Amino acid sequence: MPDINLERRCKRQAWAPTHRFFAVTAPGLEPLCAAEMAALGLAGVEPVSGGVHFAGRLEAAYQANLWLRIAGRVLLRLRDFRVRRWEDLERQAASVPWEVWLTPGAPLRVQVALHQSNLKHSGRVEEVVLSAAAARLAELGLDAPTPAAAGDEQAQSLLVRGQERRASLSLDTSGPHLHKRGWRAQGGTAPLREDLAAALLLLCGYDGSLPLLDPLCGAGTLAIEAALLARRLPPGGQRGFAFENWPCHRAAAWQHLKAQAGQGALASAPAAILARDHQARPLALAQENAALAGVAADVTFNRDDFFTAPPPAGPGLLVMNPPYGKRLGSVRQARDFMDRLGQRLRAAYPGWRCGVVLYRPEWAGLLGLKEEARLAAPFGGLKVTLLCGSIPRE
Ligand SMILES: C[S@@+](CC[C@H](N)C(=O)[O-])C[C@H]1O[C@@H](n2cnc3c(N)ncnc32)[C@H](O)[C@@H]1O
Repeated sequence: MPDINLERRCKRQAWAPTHRFFAVTAPGLEPLCAAEMAALGLAGVEPVSGGVHFAGRLEAAYQANLWLRIAGRVLLRLRDFRVRRWEDLERQAASVPWEVWLTPGAPLRVQVALHQSNLKHSGRVEEVVLSAAAARLAELGLDAPTPAAAGDEQAQSLLVRGQERRASLSLDTSGPHLHKRGWRAQGGTAPLREDLAAALLLLCGYDGSLPLLDPLCGAGTLAIEAALLARRLPPGGQRGFAFENWPCHRAAAWQHLKAQAGQGALASAPAAILARDHQARPLALAQENAALAGVAADVTFNRDDFFTAPPPAGPGLLVMNPPYGKRLGSVRQARDFMDRLGQRLRAAYPGWRCGVVLYRPEWAGLLGLKEEARLAAPFGGLKVTLLCGSIPRE
């Protein structure tokens, strides 16, 4: 590799400046993600539709990737500019110090999203940006990026967005979607996405101090996310991130952040976390997942039917993602199941709080909760409602 005094370039272009970042979230989850960021002490937190802006040094993006339970990915804004003609894009793309952000010769994917933009042709946008990066690297004697193969999740992504007269160039700092925590075993059907599970827990104010029960646990997503939260373990502690491959990556700072996270974690969950299911197969998978997530000792798994099993010591928080659709045969059967859930909640769990994933918001009434908070978010082609409330003492 030619001597281009990379460290000096990194200091000036990547380490010293305050950058603008954008954490992408599922629509509807922005306020919860903004609250997570505020709790992390990130600066310039501003929720907008589809995500949350924040600002800081490179380490702020490291922290966000390591700790955000609700974001999908974190983008670094390289350029944000007014665009009238192609030359504007060419000039901006040529001004980026690509040598600090892109590993020479590594796979790169350019994703283009244009909405009533002056730039009308996404193929040409991609070409302009790729050739600007290649020209800059060639000038320094470095190899150009190579095109990423379809489906290569490890490839670096660069996003170009054009909206009316503005355009932006952003680098993905995360790599695979952040809901991929790195602990899920193969074989589960339709598990709840991890960011939605964390959103339901945070919507209910769960902090690990009260007992938690998921009586319909399936592959265990809610109980495992709860255990990670209760023990103050970072959701991203077991996976890699795109920024780790950047030439300007600050490996020592990253190791320090991870070590700090390790020191701040609790040795065990402060209160009971119970996961129950009436079937053996999902329970076995949930146990395997909990072991992979490093929280097997924090969750008690039991094979039990919700409608007959006695409630555990409480009150605490009961969370659930009831079966829906194909699992139950028909909408009518799903509705009847919700009705039975409501009866059981009122009979056996008065005084508990309850967080539930609802596939039909109009069924909230069947549960008989005293509602405290709700939000809607997309999941698997549907819009689900996350609902939190308390179960009245009759
Ligand atoms: C939609 S899945 C839950 C998925 C889970 N949240 C996850 O992330 O994998 C619903 C689960 O409820 C369980 N279930 C259905 N009826 C039950 C009952 N009466 N008692 C206990 N579990 C039940 C099913 O076996 C299934 O695993």
